[in-house]
Amino acid sequence: MLKSDVYLVTGGAGFIGSHLIDHLLELNLGHVILLDNFNDYYSPRIKQRNISLLEARYSTRVLDGSFIIIRGNINDEELLKMIFNKYKITHIAHLAALAGVRSSTSQIGKYMEVNYAGTQLLLDLAASHKITQFVFASTSSVYGQTDKLPFVETDSCAQPLSPYAATKRAAEMLAYVYYNIHGLNITILRLFNVYGPRGRPDMMPFKLMRACIDPTCIIDVFDDGEMKRDWTYIDDVIDAFINALDQQYGYEIINIGCGNPIKLSKFIEHIEQLSGKQISKRSMKSHKTEPPITYCDNSKARKLLNFVPKTSVYEGLEKTWNWFQEEYNVKND
Ligand SMILES: NC(=O)c1ccc[n+]([C@@H]2O[C@H](COP(=O)([O-])OP(=O)(O)OC[C@H]3O[C@@H](n4cnc5c(N)ncnc54)[C@H](O)[C@@H]3O)[C@@H](O)[C@H]2O)c1
Repeated sequence: MLKSDVYLVTGGAGFIGSHLIDHLLELNLGHVILLDNFNDYYSPRIKQRNISLLEARYSTRVLDGSFIIIRGNINDEELLKMIFNKYKITHIAHLAALAGVRSSTSQIGKYMEVNYAGTQLLLDLAASHKITQFVFASTSSVYGQTDKLPFVETDSCAQPLSPYAATKRAAEMLAYVYYNIHGLNITILRLFNVYGPRGRPDMMPFKLMRACIDPTCIIDVFDDGEMKRDWTYIDDVIDAFINALDQQYGYEIINIGCGNPIKLSKFIEHIEQLSGKQISKRSMKSHKTEPPITYCDNSKARKLLNFVPKTSVYEGLEKTWNWFQEEYNVKND
């Protein structure tokens, strides 16, 4: 990585994107361009807050023009062309997406437009501008209907359970075409259940913490709490992105997950212990879009990216709860 490198981070105002930008700026690796349309899938105020923190922390980089924030849509081809021409992008971390699994069932066209067609526009410009490395945030959801555990990159991924998973898998395959035809270096990171400070409000960790401070929030517990998820702490995920941006090895798909699935009932118990509160719950049959388990085989990431998940789910939840209390002024009685 060189000081002259120029990183375009799409979805940079979101949960993972804002952490990635924080690390890129902290490491002082080069210019950073943030592109996000601040959509209202969840409150744009949360995204604005993420950006304000970055602007305050890196005010000199904003002033000297080495950190640029652009409010815009990845589906706006003219805007993308302007960005590539003006800023001479060398690396892309593509995280902009509609990321809700359940909400994708009622908006298939919208998910196709952003997650598939939007990715295609970026791949096209990346190829014509001969950028050095393209890293794409994909998901463990692509494993879909399978009895094979843990999930390995070579699994077929032929039966996605949701439009979200299908659009991400389709984008992964399209990326292969750009590698094949144009020789574009592309690393696909299949992320497993990412959580941590500034986490998404539609995801379970945040909802559970909210339920600790608001007794009117009732949590749907699927499969009697038997459902298992391979929760992966944000800092570990960011390490993987930083390493992946520094590679140029053609096309690779790499799982990024902790490799230690835990039951939803245990996950809830731990948050209740941390907060000292009882969460209101109701039992629900699991949704058709949700697999019973996500379980990451991370051996390829360990080999190619020196990936070592450093944060156990217990430590990670404690850090997240500490952030949550501060952010939402939780008073301990
Ligand atoms: N959080 C997880 O557990 C997880 C797991 C697997 C994969 N991922 C993937 O990682 C990426 C980031 O996820 P996140 O959890 O930070 O979600 P997020 O919703 O917080 O971030 C996505 C960002 O993309 C922006 N965006 C959406 N459509 C856009 C468009 N058309 N143009 C420009 N910006 C747009 C949104 O405003 C948002 O800020 C996504 O691609 C997601 O699919 C996340």
